[in-house]
Amino acid sequence: MTQDKLKAAVLISGTGSNLKALINAISSGDLELDIVKVISNRGHAPGLAHAKSAAIPVSVISQADFPDRQSHDAAIAEVLLQDQAELIILAGYMRILGEEFTHKFRGQIINLHPSLLPLYKGLDTYRRVLEAGDVETGASIHFVTAGLDSGPVISQIRIPVLPDDDTASLSARLGPQEHKLVVATVGLFCKRQIQYEQDEVSYLGQVIDRPLLLKDDGRFV
Ligand code: GAR
Repeated sequence: MTQDKLKAAVLISGTGSNLKALINAISSGDLELDIVKVISNRGHAPGLAHAKSAAIPVSVISQADFPDRQSHDAAIAEVLLQDQAELIILAGYMRILGEEFTHKFRGQIINLHPSLLPLYKGLDTYRRVLEAGDVETGASIHFVTAGLDSGPVISQIRIPVLPDDDTASLSARLGPQEHKLVVATVGLFCKRQIQYEQDEVSYLGQVIDRPLLLKDDGRFV
């Protein structure tokens, strides 16, 4: 028996290259996902064009139109409930969601972050990696809980930092790897292989004690 396609909403604020990677994977048949809505807090986010060209409905919900975070979050929640989104993917959504929101959708929200969490939460990750002299960095996907870029980490991909890297070269090399990570990780959700369990990640019914690592051959270890 085939399962119904997982319904997801993707929240963006900017370029939307990860959204585009998901759309491409759906078009090529690599991902059995139904993106029911793309929500942006910025009306001019370039990523909205990817949604429109894939005929995915878009909602722009700007914080400028609300008196406080709670009412902004509540407007987003209403759209997600109306669309019956099962998975909420923060793909470059650069605004903190409040505790009420993260509690309401606990276990359903995932966030992409361009570092090997718990290292380098927040902004400017590439610069901080270079300043620290790290020889390796990567991207992470984690369940969203109340804190910034915190919550149990589901999966990661690693890349080396090269001696002549700058922030631009690092971000240019990590980008395509992060795209692979989001497609592969969302794929696990589509197959209902990942669950959130009391602040831990369960994969294939077992709580994992470290994030799944995506290897070059497209498999997780
Ligand atoms: C991605 O690299 C994502 O990891 C990062 O924003 C970028 C969005 O790119 N998110 C964060 O830093 C969240 N703390 P995109 O708009 O091209 O998908």
